[in-house]
Amino acid sequence: RLYGPDRRNSAGMDISQNAIRKDLAAAVKSFRDSPAISAGPIVNGKVDSGGGDMVRVPFDTEIVLGSVKSADEKHIDQALKSAAGYQVQWDRLGGAERAKHLRAMGDILEENMTRLIALMAREGGKTLGDGVAEVREAVDFCRYYAKQAEADFTGPTRLPGPTGETNQISLHGRGVFCCISPWNFPLAIFTGQIAAALASGNTVVAKPAEQTPLIAFEAVKLFHKAGLPVETLHLLPGTGEQVGSVLIKDLRVSGVCFTGGTSTARIIAKSLADRDGPIIPLIAETGGLNGLFVDTTALREQVIDDIIVSAFGSAGQRCSALRVAFLPHDTADMLVEGLIGAMNELKIGDPADPDTDVGPVIDQESREMLQEYLAKMETEAKVLHQIPAGRIGETGYGFGPALVELKSLDQITEEKFGPILHIVRYDPDDIDKVGAALKAKGYGLTLGIHSRLDSFQIEVRDAVPVGNTYVNRSMTGAVVGVQPFGGEGLSGTGPKAGGPHYLHRFATERTLTVNI
Ligand code: NAD
Ligand code: ALA
Repeated sequence: RLYGPDRRNSAGMDISQNAIRKDLAAAVKSFRDSPAISAGPIVNGKVDSGGGDMVRVPFDTEIVLGSVKSADEKHIDQALKSAAGYQVQWDRLGGAERAKHLRAMGDILEENMTRLIALMAREGGKTLGDGVAEVREAVDFCRYYAKQAEADFTGPTRLPGPTGETNQISLHGRGVFCCISPWNFPLAIFTGQIAAALASGNTVVAKPAEQTPLIAFEAVKLFHKAGLPVETLHLLPGTGEQVGSVLIKDLRVSGVCFTGGTSTARIIAKSLADRDGPIIPLIAETGGLNGLFVDTTALREQVIDDIIVSAFGSAGQRCSALRVAFLPHDTADMLVEGLIGAMNELKIGDPADPDTDVGPVIDQESREMLQEYLAKMETEAKVLHQIPAGRIGETGYGFGPALVELKSLDQITEEKFGPILHIVRYDPDDIDKVGAALKAKGYGLTLGIHSRLDSFQIEVRDAVPVGNTYVNRSMTGAVVGVQPFGGEGLSGTGPKAGGPHYLHRFATERTLTVNI
C-alpha cells in the first residue's frame, strides 16, 4: 500500500533564502531575549512547571534555555488514570476522525516550523538544515499515519464464511502506549511514536529524553492547541530510571514504543518480562554498527561526499550514521587523502549559524565517552585525523570529527555515538568473509554500497542483511513512506517507522462471528 498517491511529504523551508535566514536568526535570538521556557509534566492538558532543573545549550552551556520539572508519582498516576479511562472512547472514534486530529498536529507543526527549528538548534544542538528535515519528518509521520488510520482503522473488514453466518475482523488500539524517545530526534521520533499510537486507537503517556524536554513540551502544547483531546496525550518528563522504568512496570500500560540505545532496550525488555499482568508488545528501535563497502569501480568524489555526510552529518549522532567504511586496498590511500581534505572543509560551530556543518555533541557524558574512546584508539589503532572543535569553545560540548584506521574489525564491537569514522582496508574479492564478520557483530540497521557493478552490490546485500540499504548515495535521512526506517538484530524489533506495517504492531485484532 502507498497510503494515498494524493499524500505529499512536507516541503519544509529553504534556508538558503535570506528572508528565511533572518526569521530563523530572530527565532534563535528570542530564546535569549524572552523569559526562559518553564516546562514540566502536562497531565490532562495542565502544565505543572516551576522549580525544575535548568536546561542549558550544548553549544554554549552558559546559555540557559529554560527549566524542566520532572514527573513524580502523582503525575504518573493521574496521567495513566486519564489515558486508560479515555482509551475506549478514542478507539471508538474510528480511524477517520482520529486522522483529522493527526492532520491538525501536522499542520500546527508546519505553522510553527521556524520556532521549532530554532529550539532544536539550541536545545538539541541540531544544525538548521537538520532542523528543517526533522520538522518535515514529524509532519510526514502525522500525515502518513493519518492516511493509514483512514485506510485500515475505519471499521470492520468482512470475511468469507458459511451461509447463515457473518464474519468480520477489525483493528483496535491496545490501551495506553508508553512512548519513550531519544534526544537525537527530539521532535520527529517523539512525534512519530505518539502519532502512530494515537492513529491506531491508543492513548499515550510520553516520556521524552532528559536532554531535550523543552522540544517535547512545546510539541505537546501545540498538539493540544490543535484540538487533540487532552486525555489522549500526557507528557511525563524525567530520567529513564525515575520515570521511564516506573511507567513500563505499571499494569495500566498496554504497549511500549521505545527508541534509544540497545542496552536500554534490553533493560526494558527484561522489565516487561517480569511484569505479572498481560504480556504486552515492545517496539524497540535501537543502535547500529553501520558499514559502507566501496569497490574499485566506485566514483571517488561521490564516495567521499557520501561518506562525509553519512559519518559526520548531525555530528554522527544518528543511529543510521556510517561507523565503518571498508575501502579497497587498491584505492584506499587515495580515498583517505580525499576524506581528510573534505574533513578539513567542514565548518564546526554554532548549529544556529546557517553555514555550520557540524554542531556540538549532546552533553558532557557523550563528549567524555568519545574522548576516552579516541584516546584508546590512539594506542590500539591509528587516528588518521581529527578536526579541532575550536569554534564550539570551552563552555560547549565540542568534539571534532575524527578518522580512525582499524587494524581489524575485531577492534570494534559496539556503536560509539558521535562523529568518529573507522576505516578498514579490505579486498573486495573477500566480500563474503568481511561481510560475514560485520554481520556477526549482530547489528542490522543501515548499509552503504558504492560500486557500479550489480554483482558486487548483490554480494554485499546478501552478506550483510540490514533494515535499510543505500547504493551509491548517502546512508542517512530516511524519508517517511519512501524509505520506511528500522533495523533487525541488535538494531531493533521492527516494524519500520514510516512504513505500511508500523501501525499494526500498535493494534490488536478482533473478529466477530454472528450466526444469523
Ligand atoms: P538512551 O537509550 O540512553 O535513552 C532513550 C530513552 O530511554 C530516553 O528517554 C531515556 O530517558 C529512556 N530510558 C533510559 N533508561 C531507561 C529505563 N531503564 N527504563 C525506561 N526508559 C529508559 O538513548 P539516547 O542516548 O537517548 O539515544 C541515542 C541512542 O538511540 C543511540 O544508540 C541511537 O542509535 C539510538 N537511536 C535509534 C534510532 C532508530 O530508529 N533505530 C533512532 C534514533 C536513535
Ligand atoms: N531515520 C533517521 C535516518 O534515516 C535516523 O537517518
